[in-house]
Amino acid sequence: MTKKTVLFVDDDPHILEGLRTRLHRLSRKWVMRFVGSSRAALDLMAREPVDVIVSDMRMPEMDGTTLLKLVQERHPRIVRIVLSGHAEVETALRAIPVAHQFLSKPCEAGVLENVVERACSLQGLINEDVVRTIVSRIDRLPSLPQLYTQLVAALANENLCADDIARILKQDLAMCAKILQIVNSAFFRLSRSISRVEEAVSYLGFNTIKQIVLAVEIFSYSAAGNGRLELPLQKLQSHAVAVGGLGAALFSDKRKKEDAFVAGLLHDIGKLVLCVELPDDVERVTQEMRAENCAMNVAEQHIFGVTHAEIGGYLLGLWGLPFPIVEAVANHHTPGRVEHDGLGILTAVHIADWLVNHPQRNGEHEAGRQTSGLDLDYLERLGVAAQLDTWIALADRETATTLP
Ligand SMILES: [Fe+2]
Ligand SMILES: [Fe+2]
Repeated sequence: MTKKTVLFVDDDPHILEGLRTRLHRLSRKWVMRFVGSSRAALDLMAREPVDVIVSDMRMPEMDGTTLLKLVQERHPRIVRIVLSGHAEVETALRAIPVAHQFLSKPCEAGVLENVVERACSLQGLINEDVVRTIVSRIDRLPSLPQLYTQLVAALANENLCADDIARILKQDLAMCAKILQIVNSAFFRLSRSISRVEEAVSYLGFNTIKQIVLAVEIFSYSAAGNGRLELPLQKLQSHAVAVGGLGAALFSDKRKKEDAFVAGLLHDIGKLVLCVELPDDVERVTQEMRAENCAMNVAEQHIFGVTHAEIGGYLLGLWGLPFPIVEAVANHHTPGRVEHDGLGILTAVHIADWLVNHPQRNGEHEAGRQTSGLDLDYLERLGVAAQLDTWIALADRETATTLP
């Protein structure tokens, strides 16, 4: 196994010394480099390969945000992690568009090890260099302009509560993913991961959300309006909300409901990445689907060497979203790749996606049922295939209640 190279940048020699001592045991698996300035870091990255950069924020000459921005441009495949003082929330948030993960000082060796290892283990999801580079470079994803405007107005209204804000966020995958990225970052030192949007909003507070949404202009992409994206985005958002809602309806346990909702909402986020970054190739995917009469993931695999599922999983993994969500997103078309018992989040998303894509009347003759896209063998193995009729009935009821 080749060792990963992790580069630490901090202008305070004591911090670097502390890290060197605390992380010493990791030298079995990591090559660690310690430098005292952004300039020295850039020189080193130009000379030798680096897998992960962990940078301080406040540094003389060139601060951490500027450094990470340059890393994003020059070496997009390097995983970018911010390590800043716990009191410097504002400074850290400024780096949101360019950082994959956030840590706060002093950082325990175990936490740092987990974050770095997890980010690196994701690399296996995507073998194609080109696609991996594109995803690591992504700093923003589009939101629907009307939702963005609604959110800005809601944040300015002092009479609204966290649930009101969450209700808007939950309709938009890009905004939802970003808020969950921030709240789950090790920066906030939560002892558990959060996948409930309401909880994320009340934990972060209106001010932080405002900073995230406004100051960093993560979503300005959409606000500027991009005609070519608007229609696919609208379709994608309503599909996402439907899959989230139905995925949640498959459970009675509250926690599972919440995870399934978010995983369903975010399951096709890889499509958004492809639409934004490779619109012409997406057009080729559509043509191939028509010409070959094949599923989207099959055409994507052929054209990109990877599908929107792995792309989405990779992005959310880099952003540090809770594991069950990343796993569900990465495998929603091929759940059989993961061994599970009973009905889990991944299975719920796989089923909900199929139900939403194949609306059918309950009681329809079983032999005539369209099961393409549904992994029946996998459902058999889990021992849940017999529930298919119940789920179809549930989907019928859900659709009936959501129809205007
Ligand atoms: Fe999908
Ligand atoms: Fe889907």
